[in-house]
Amino acid sequence: MNDNNVLTVAGLRKKYKDKAAVNGVSFAFSTGEFVGLLGPNGAGKTTTIKMLTGLIRPSAGTIHYYGSDFRQQSQTSKALIGVVPQQNNLDRDLTAYENLYLHAILYGIPNGVRTQRIDELLDFSGLADYRNRQVKQFSGGTMRRLVILRALLHEPKILFLDEPTVGLDPQIRRVIWDFIVKINRVKNTTILLTTHYIEEAERLCKRVLVINDGSIITDGDPETLKDGIGRFVLEIHKDDSIEEEFFDTRDEALAALHNSTYTCKVRGVTLEDVFLRLTGRRINV
Ligand SMILES: Nc1ncnc2c1ncn2[C@@H]1O[C@H](COP(=O)(O)OP(=O)(O)OP(=O)(O)O)[C@@H](O)[C@H]1O
Ligand SMILES: [Mg+2]
Repeated sequence: MNDNNVLTVAGLRKKYKDKAAVNGVSFAFSTGEFVGLLGPNGAGKTTTIKMLTGLIRPSAGTIHYYGSDFRQQSQTSKALIGVVPQQNNLDRDLTAYENLYLHAILYGIPNGVRTQRIDELLDFSGLADYRNRQVKQFSGGTMRRLVILRALLHEPKILFLDEPTVGLDPQIRRVIWDFIVKINRVKNTTILLTTHYIEEAERLCKRVLVINDGSIITDGDPETLKDGIGRFVLEIHKDDSIEEEFFDTRDEALAALHNSTYTCKVRGVTLEDVFLRLTGRRINV
């Protein structure tokens, strides 16, 4: 095993009754990677994150952080992990500072450095003005930033974010994206985020694991994955369906457009097309 990998996962599986929510996934991340776990509702993203962060026990498989078995070294490994869950779980009656302070105690951050660490991170995330305000007065985007900030307090090596921008409007989504990119660049924190937003995976992630029905069906950087199916799509608008044909060049796609009797459109491929090609269905329906 390569101990330089922050995380190495082999044959990870979670079975609920007769159904495998996660069906034997394997991958490894090196330090500083920015990875997306992209898949539709119910694909197994949250279940994967919950196993990787110790919230649920795998049915099979192994998880190693820097070469140490997560089951045997769970306390040391948990110190390396930051978690941003799918649902915000802040105490709404407390202020931002109080929420952060509680977390600092829980994670054993020494008394003498707690306040300093909190204030540094409030500055880093642009939330200093919210320090002494009650969380229930915050917008959804500000709450999300606070949850992310909280996950950084104990200086994790790897940050797991489960659907970090779900339900946020596009402008706020960009603010969150910038924040996550900053964490990755400035602190060199390894990032694994789950998403079903194509744009989020394409714009942010240097590497994407595509998950469907509990299995990882492809793994690579978005551009290479798109190259694999052809860079241009001809959308053929039929009476009750839209069909897609893939081409390596725009000229080939345009030639096919001119020969078609249907209404057609030529556009660049997206990761949605990659998913469609591999599974026969769309990520977002
Ligand atoms: N506690 C549970 N008991 C039984 N089945 C479960 C449980 N948790 C998840 N599942 C099932 O496992 C599958 C994967 O669920 P999971 O929440 O991991 O998907 P997801 O990719 O995170 O989906 P979403 O995009 O909706 O958040 C789904 O079919 C789900 O219904
Ligand atoms: Mg989920």
